[in-house]
Amino acid sequence: MKAMVQKAYGAPEDVLELGDVATPANKDDEVLLRVHAAGVNWADWSAVRGMPYVMRMMYGLRRPRNGVGGVDVAGTVEAVGRDVTTLQPGDEVFGQCQGAFAEYARAKPKNLAPRPAGLTFEQAASVPMAGLVALQALRDVGKVRPGHKVLVNGASGGIGTFTVQIAKSFGAEVTGVSSTSNLELVRKIGADHVIDYTEADFTESGRHYDFILDIADNHSIAERRRVLSRKGTLVPNSGEGGRWLGSIGRIIGARLMSPFVSQKLAPFLSVPKTADLLTLMRLIESGEVSPVIDRIHPLSETPAAIAYVGAGHARGKTVIAI
Ligand SMILES: NC(=O)c1ccc[n+]([C@@H]2O[C@H](COP(=O)([O-])OP(=O)(O)OC[C@H]3O[C@@H](n4cnc5c(N)ncnc54)[C@H](OP(=O)(O)O)[C@@H]3O)[C@@H](O)[C@H]2O)c1
Repeated sequence: MKAMVQKAYGAPEDVLELGDVATPANKDDEVLLRVHAAGVNWADWSAVRGMPYVMRMMYGLRRPRNGVGGVDVAGTVEAVGRDVTTLQPGDEVFGQCQGAFAEYARAKPKNLAPRPAGLTFEQAASVPMAGLVALQALRDVGKVRPGHKVLVNGASGGIGTFTVQIAKSFGAEVTGVSSTSNLELVRKIGADHVIDYTEADFTESGRHYDFILDIADNHSIAERRRVLSRKGTLVPNSGEGGRWLGSIGRIIGARLMSPFVSQKLAPFLSVPKTADLLTLMRLIESGEVSPVIDRIHPLSETPAAIAYVGAGHARGKTVIAI
């Protein structure tokens, strides 16, 4: 099969190459998917560069353990393992898999759900990681309820565009922060208020928010606590940071401080699960959430797509059409 193959760590254009590899064999508890589209995430940028270095414990110390990257997927079930009872060949699904930048990929049924009605495969592939972060951060970490004031710093990107829309569907009053050229997009997807970060600093607004999802994560905890309500929740979400440890220092700092303040400082990791993909599917099918697609690239342009996402200024999601 055709796949985007990675043999070393480095810049996407230097280490990724379109090649022919063996079609993966699914295990007994897995399905084999014919991939129609793959979503591109910051995680792919991190995996291709093997940065921060600490992540190489997971990716492979000297070279990538998985020669084919890509997690978010939409496709058709081609074959099912003998222990799989919930899916059958021909089912159209979306979710997370191993090696989505290829014609075929293995996936566990617990990480998949039916493709939402009315979405193309490309739109469906844009949903999983960004949608799961947004849903789980708002619902499980922030316990966002109607009337809550929510601020999304980085509102026009992949996670931000889902967070704004899901927060609105929860009945929150939403403020989105982005650069000037993306303010209109943030308003269009439902934000009640927008802040242009090139002109104003949200931490100096004097307003108070019950929940802040901070994708840019470029203010100190103290600065952000200033605009968090007394019992509010801050999710510092960026994985960016030093070459060795990335955001781990900031995460530990927030966790250590959290028990000593009335506010909740809660960095978290999203978890793929069918139940939450089904929730996202329902939000999409009811029209409350609509994926925002920035670019669609063919498989051969995966390096450029990953580099674009890595630059940190995407307008919604970037997708690979296989
Ligand atoms: N918690 C988890 O489980 C989890 C899972 C996946 C990813 N992540 C983290 O999420 C981040 C990627 O998020 P994403 O996929 O949404 O990224 P993205 O699509 O690249 O979007 C980044 C957004 O940040 C905005 N931005 C850039 N500089 C900014 C600034 N100084 N102030 C405010 N906004 C700014 C950009 O807006 P403009 O273009 O207008 O500048 C853009 O909308 C990564 O750091 C990753 O580690 C966490």
